This record gives sequence, structure tokens and C-alpha cells, in this order.
Amino acid sequence: MARAQRFRFRDEPGPGGDGAVLEVRVPQVLHVQYGMYVWPCAVVLAQYLWFHRRSLPGKAVLEIGAGVSLPGILAAKCGAKVVLSDNSEFPHCLDICWQSCQMNNLPQVQVVGLTWGHLSKDILSLPPQDIILGSDVFFEPEATVRSADWSLEGLLYKWDMKCVHIPLESFDADKEDIAESTLPGRHTVEMLIISFAKTVSE
Ligand SMILES: C[S@@+](CC[C@H](N)C(=O)[O-])C[C@H]1O[C@@H](n2cnc3c(N)ncnc32)[C@H](O)[C@@H]1O
Repeated sequence: MARAQRFRFRDEPGPGGDGAVLEVRVPQVLHVQYGMYVWPCAVVLAQYLWFHRRSLPGKAVLEIGAGVSLPGILAAKCGAKVVLSDNSEFPHCLDICWQSCQMNNLPQVQVVGLTWGHLSKDILSLPPQDIILGSDVFFEPEATVRSADWSLEGLLYKWDMKCVHIPLESFDADKEDIAESTLPGRHTVEMLIISFAKTVSE
């Protein structure tokens, strides 16, 4: 049975801060599927979105490998038009995406089954997206090391993309307990922004 976990994102009052607080509750289930609980990367990505929340209203945002969807739910609560997705062959993970929407009273958020590397009717019918979110989605189920380092460079080269590393301290994520949770703990988390190397007009 799903247990709700609460994350409370806060903007410290004072110079530059507005004292805003946002609460997100997500379901968590101890389950063999990886998407049924929050991974340390998710709370870091959610903190990044919270820090940049003023740029989110009206943006089309797709979360891939969303699982319980903490970043996507936070983006929706900040005014983005969000689509959550997980592997179309993992009904439990798609169901927990729905449960997260319900728990946060977000009936407008769409949930679709998208399997990485598969072209489907669902992916082709999505409108253009401004931002694609992914937390802890660079991993190989057979491998024990969860790292983007070994896989990313070749893909950036292949698709003519670039990657910028964002220091955690630049968005108040250089701590072990974000949003009043016990995450990310002592895990090493890297925040990366990947985009096309050239703009369309170049
Ligand atoms: C480690 S979990 C991370 C979940 C969530 N993003 C987080 O950080 O809490 C990886 C997620 O990727 C999803 N996933 C794994 N293989 C996938 C695939 N081939 N296509 C789409 N999603 C996949 C899993 O179902 C799971 O939700």
C-alpha cells in the first residue's frame, strides 16, 4: 500500500527571497520496480525547479522515467503544463504517476507510457515540449554503477548536443536534507542541463 511522503520547499525570507513555501506529497511503495519511491536525484532536480519556479508558468514540461514524479509534480504546481511518463511496460510505475497527481490535486496533468527508444503513437501525439526532465534515468539495470559519465559523451556527439554542469550550491541543493526530507543524503548527485549545441536559426 502507498505511503505519502511530504516534501516542503521553502524560499528563505530576506533579501532576494519571498518566503514562499510549497508542499508536495508523493506516494511511495516498497516495490521491486525502481519507480515506486523517490530517488536522491529527484529531490535535487525538484529543488532546481523550485529555485527557478518563476520561469515555469506556461512551459510545456515532459518528465521521463518519472516514477513517483516529484520534479514533474512540483513543476505542475508552479504553473507548468506537465506530462508525466514512465515505461509503457511498467503499469505499476504509470499507476504511481497517477496517484501522485491525485495526491496533489492535479487532474490536468497527463500520464503516458513512453519507453525510451521506442516510437509510439503516444510519443508522436505529444505537443512540442520546452523542457524534458529526467532524474536517475542514466542507468543500466544490469549494472551496479549509476553514472552518466560513461554513456553521455557519445550521445552528445551523435545528436549534436551540449551539456552544462550546474553546481549544486547555485540552487541551494548542496545539503543532505532538501525540502525537509532526508534526501539526497550523502549521495553524490550531478545536475546537468542538456540542450542542442546550435539554436535553430544558426
Ligand atoms: C531509478 S528510477 C527513478 C525514478 C524517478 N525519476 C526518481 O528519480 O525518483 C528509474 C525510472 O526509469 C523508469 N524506466 C526504466 N527503464 C525505462 C525505459 N526503458 N523506458 C522508460 N522508463 C524507464 C523506471 O520505471 C523508473 O521509474
